[in-house]
Amino acid sequence: MYDLIIEDGTILSSTSRWVADIAVEGGEIVYIGPRPGGGARERVSAIGRFVVPGFIDGHVHFRDPGHPGKEDWASGSRAAASGGVTTVCDMPNTSPPTITGEAWREKAALAASRSVVNYGLWFGAAAGGVEEARRMVDEGPACGIKVFMGASTGPLLVDDATLVEFFKGTRSLMGVHAEDEGVLQAQRLLWEGRVPPTHHDSRPAEAAVVAVRRLVELTRAFPRPVHICHVSTEAEVALLETTRGVLPITLEASPHHLWFNHEQPLGNFGKVNPPLRPEADRRAVWAALRRGLIDTIGSDHAPHTREEKERGYAEAPAGIPGVEFIFSLLLSAVRQGRIGLERVVQLCAEAPAQRFGFVRKGRVAVGADADLVLFREGELVRLTADHILSRVGWSPYLGQNLAPKPEMVFVGGRLVSKAGVIVDDSGRGALVSPAREG
Ligand code: DOR
Ligand code: ZN
Ligand code: ZN
Repeated sequence: MYDLIIEDGTILSSTSRWVADIAVEGGEIVYIGPRPGGGARERVSAIGRFVVPGFIDGHVHFRDPGHPGKEDWASGSRAAASGGVTTVCDMPNTSPPTITGEAWREKAALAASRSVVNYGLWFGAAAGGVEEARRMVDEGPACGIKVFMGASTGPLLVDDATLVEFFKGTRSLMGVHAEDEGVLQAQRLLWEGRVPPTHHDSRPAEAAVVAVRRLVELTRAFPRPVHICHVSTEAEVALLETTRGVLPITLEASPHHLWFNHEQPLGNFGKVNPPLRPEADRRAVWAALRRGLIDTIGSDHAPHTREEKERGYAEAPAGIPGVEFIFSLLLSAVRQGRIGLERVVQLCAEAPAQRFGFVRKGRVAVGADADLVLFREGELVRLTADHILSRVGWSPYLGQNLAPKPEMVFVGGRLVSKAGVIVDDSGRGALVSPAREG
C-alpha cells in the first residue's frame, strides 16, 4: 500500500517531459511509470498538470531567533511552501549569528520545531572561526560557509585576512555576499549626512566588481567551490564570464534584481544590498541567465517589517521579501517567453540541489524525496495582499500580474499547500545536509 499516488502528471526535468504516475511511500518516491499495482491511501489526479521537483531557495533570512515580531520559521516556511519552495537554506546573520556550533544547533532546533519545509543552514564565517567551520561544514551538517565581504544587514563581516584564512583552511561550498568593504566605506564618508539619490549611488557597482575580482584571485590560488550570491551588475557578469568552466565559481541571481531597476519608485521598500541597479545591469543579468551563466535563483528573502521600512533612509534596514514568489515570477517569465520551463526547473531545483550536494532533492526520480509541485500553465493574476503569507505582509511585486501560486505543494509526500493556501501545517521539514565524499 502506497501513501500517495500522483496520476498522469507531466513530469518535467531540465531535459525531458513525460507523462507517468508517481508512487510515494515514507516520504520518498518509490515508483515512476505507468499505473503502479497496489493501493494507495491517497490519490491525486494530475491530468493536464506539470509535476516538478520542489524548489530549493538557497538564500533566505528567516530571522528567528532574536527578532520578535518579525518573520520566523513558522511564517517564513509557510510562505515558502505556498510558493512551491520545499527547501530553504537560511543565512547566518541572525542574532546570535550562527558562527559557532552552539548557535547553529540552536537554530537547527528552532527550525526543527517550526518549519513546514526542509531546511539547510549556512554557517557564518568570522575571524578566528576556521576550525569551527571545518567541524560544522567540511565535516558537519551545515550547508556551506557564508561570507560577507561587505557590511550589510546584521553583524557579520570578514576582512581580507580572514577571508584568506577561510580559503586556505576550509574546502566546502562558500557562499559570498560580494561587495568590497573598502569601497563601501569610502562611499559612506562621501555621503555622510546626506541622502543619496538612490541606494545604488551609495553602493556602486564598483563595490561588487572589486569584491568579485578578489574572489576570482583567491579561487585561482586556492580552488574550492564558490557561489556568488545575488549577482546584480553587468561588470560582474562580464568578469565571471571569463572564469566560466575554468574556476569552480557559480552564480546566483535574485528576482528583485531581475524585476526592478534603481529608478523604481519603491523608496526604502526597494532598499536592498546589493542595490537595485540601472536598467543596463538588470538587462545584463537577464541576458546572463538566458545564456546559462546564472546557475541558481535565490530569493534573498529579507523580511523587514513595514514599520522598519518606513523609517528614514539611513535607519531603514536593507532587504526585500520574496521566497514565496520565485515560482510565480519565473512562471510569469515563461509565460512572457523570456525563459523556458525546463530552464526554470534547472535554476530552481536541479542546479541548487547539485551545488549544495542535496542528493535526494531537485529531481523527480525513484529514491528522491517526495518534495513535489503540481501546477498548470494558466492566466496571470494580479498580486494582492491576500496572496502574501510572509508575516511582513508587503511585497514589491504587489499589483503586478503574476502566475498564481502552484495548485499543490507536497513536502516529503505530505500535501502542505493548495493554490497558495496552507492546508496542513502539522508536519515538519527535515534538516538537509550536503552529501560528503568518501
Ligand atoms: O539587503 C540585504 N538584506 N542584503 C543582505 O546582505 C542581508 C539582508 C538581510 O539580512 O536583511
Ligand atoms: Zn547578501
Ligand atoms: Zn542575503
